[in-house]
Amino acid sequence: MITLKSDREFEKMEVAGACVAAVHRAVREAAKPGVTLKELDDIAAEVTRTRDCTPSFLHYQPSPLQTPYPGHLCLSVNDVIVHGIPSGYKLRSGDILSVDAGAIYEGFHGDAAFTMGIGDLSPEAAALVATTEESMWAGIRAVQAGARLGDIGAAVQAVGDTRGYGIVREYVGHGIGRQMHEEPQVPNLGTAGKGIKLRVGMALCIEPMFNAGSWETRVDPDGWTVRTVDGSLSAHFEHTVAITRSGVRVMTLPGAPDLADIPATDYNSRPVYGTQST
Ligand code: MF3
Ligand code: CO
Repeated sequence: MITLKSDREFEKMEVAGACVAAVHRAVREAAKPGVTLKELDDIAAEVTRTRDCTPSFLHYQPSPLQTPYPGHLCLSVNDVIVHGIPSGYKLRSGDILSVDAGAIYEGFHGDAAFTMGIGDLSPEAAALVATTEESMWAGIRAVQAGARLGDIGAAVQAVGDTRGYGIVREYVGHGIGRQMHEEPQVPNLGTAGKGIKLRVGMALCIEPMFNAGSWETRVDPDGWTVRTVDGSLSAHFEHTVAITRSGVRVMTLPGAPDLADIPATDYNSRPVYGTQST
């Protein structure tokens, strides 16, 4: 069942989203060679608390068989695709780091991720990061009342396919609201015109994960860390997007801007809507 959100509920999601944007900004500023993942996780905890929000990943347990998630952030370095656990690992120049953050405000969730380079990146790593972000925006721009779920996957897939990247299929985007993970699932591959119709009141997380090599994944013995099978680099971008009566809004950018007001060339790592600005 897909739950539709009221304007009032979207207002709460906007506060949660602003918290996630603030966490992104703080972590992006702090992430440098020599800094440990645990230090970044502590920053996320502090920012979330300061904003009167609750961390949503900490102790998250999707099934009783799985160990509760032990961090505030998912921090996924290089060949880690998603769900990397904040450890004592010290970041090194040339690493790519995916930062995934979630927050709850008055029972409503925000969830977003970005990938950044640490120090100097190889051209291959930089291209993977830029293309994955581009695919997220292509997916987000497919979101509108009356569009179909498959339009999103088709838009994301078109970007990945033209560059020959492995598009991760075992992990997908999702609906969001009172729960971090709600229906529908939002695949990063699809066929335009297929799938359920998107409606006012829906909130979706659009979150492509692209691998430089094969799309195949495996999970570490810790039960969380998801890696590329072939050891290739992986990047991940995500925003929480709301279909409101007045338009589509990107809830996990500062100010939750209307999509129509975001210039087509501005991605979230760029200054105007950047996690580094405001
Ligand atoms: N942000 C992730 C997602 O988009 C969820 C993180 S899993 C957790 O689905 F265990 F860390 F919470
Ligand atoms: Co998500």
